[in-house]
Amino acid sequence: MIVTVTLNAAIDKTIICHQVKSGGITRAEEALAVAGGKGINVARTVFKLGGEVLATGLAGGSNGAIIRDLLEQEKIDYHLVELRDNSRMCLTIIEKCNQTITELYDPSPVVQPEEWENFKRFMSKLARKADLITLDGSLPSGLSDEAYGELIFLIRKANERCKVILDTSGQALQKGIKAKPFMIKPNRDEMEILIGHSLSDKEEQIKAVKTLLEEGIEVVVLSLGNKGVVFGYNRAVYQVDPLAVEVKSSVGCGDALVGGFAHRFLGAGDVIEAVKYGVASATSNLTSKTQGDVSRTQVEEFSRLIKLYQV
Ligand SMILES: Nc1ncnc2c1ncn2[C@@H]1O[C@H](COP(=O)(O)OP(=O)(O)OP(=O)(O)O)[C@@H](O)[C@H]1O
Ligand SMILES: [Mg+2]
Repeated sequence: MIVTVTLNAAIDKTIICHQVKSGGITRAEEALAVAGGKGINVARTVFKLGGEVLATGLAGGSNGAIIRDLLEQEKIDYHLVELRDNSRMCLTIIEKCNQTITELYDPSPVVQPEEWENFKRFMSKLARKADLITLDGSLPSGLSDEAYGELIFLIRKANERCKVILDTSGQALQKGIKAKPFMIKPNRDEMEILIGHSLSDKEEQIKAVKTLLEEGIEVVVLSLGNKGVVFGYNRAVYQVDPLAVEVKSSVGCGDALVGGFAHRFLGAGDVIEAVKYGVASATSNLTSKTQGDVSRTQVEEFSRLIKLYQV
């Protein structure tokens, strides 16, 4: 079973309009709301691909109740530990006139020490029966930057066989890496912050991936938006070219990549096949307005078209 962790679950609301009228009223052409936060997006991808997945994390208040309700409507299994504070609403505005995406996030809820202890207790038990756990997204207020590291140690103690994928940014990533997750999936910005310099050319990107492999991360997937993926595994580094499709929204592509990878890796046990499937899932996500939403038929088709070569 795949378990996803979203410590900052949210309602993801998307508004599609021609153009935002700054200082005035903008009427949306379309609006949709789904349960969100990166781990929930990953869970949606795995669910759509037909995998067994449990979305876990923290959620509270009236927004927490809506997040649970939205997950139920989608039939995604979940267990979100209760927070006293209200969970966030995150707003994505897509302007059709210039294909701009703007994201506005509520302030984060504050997690109380006993709520974090409740979650860790729950995760210690759950990890015994999980095959792969993904830790995704930013940390809510009240948690230290070591939170993902704590979870990785606790999961390893409960179940040595369980693989952990860490997909986060900034200090949470910097600190989390010390606990040696099986895989990380930074995008270019996240990797630049981690490495401490710009990664504008391919050579620098390859070098950054190799540096992290040498630090003991087994699979390092650097996602580069419309430039595809550079990833490292088993001391080799590979390039995956992007596929050209008509883009509806690129939000959640990284999450779909993680979901597709996790699903295929559990099925095939092969990292290279899993990365191809992950990129195919990210590409399918481009054709939907909902984060992490993929079509299984499309993913199967795209994965046959993916070009991957050693660099
Ligand atoms: N415009 C695009 N055209 C083709 N492929 C794309 C495009 N945008 C994203 N992708 C695919 O999706 C993958 C992940 O995208 P990206 O690097 O933007 O992830 P991300 O920034 O982590 O996304 P998020 O955090 O919103 O989920 C890319 O490596 C690429 O394969
Ligand atoms: Mg990402």
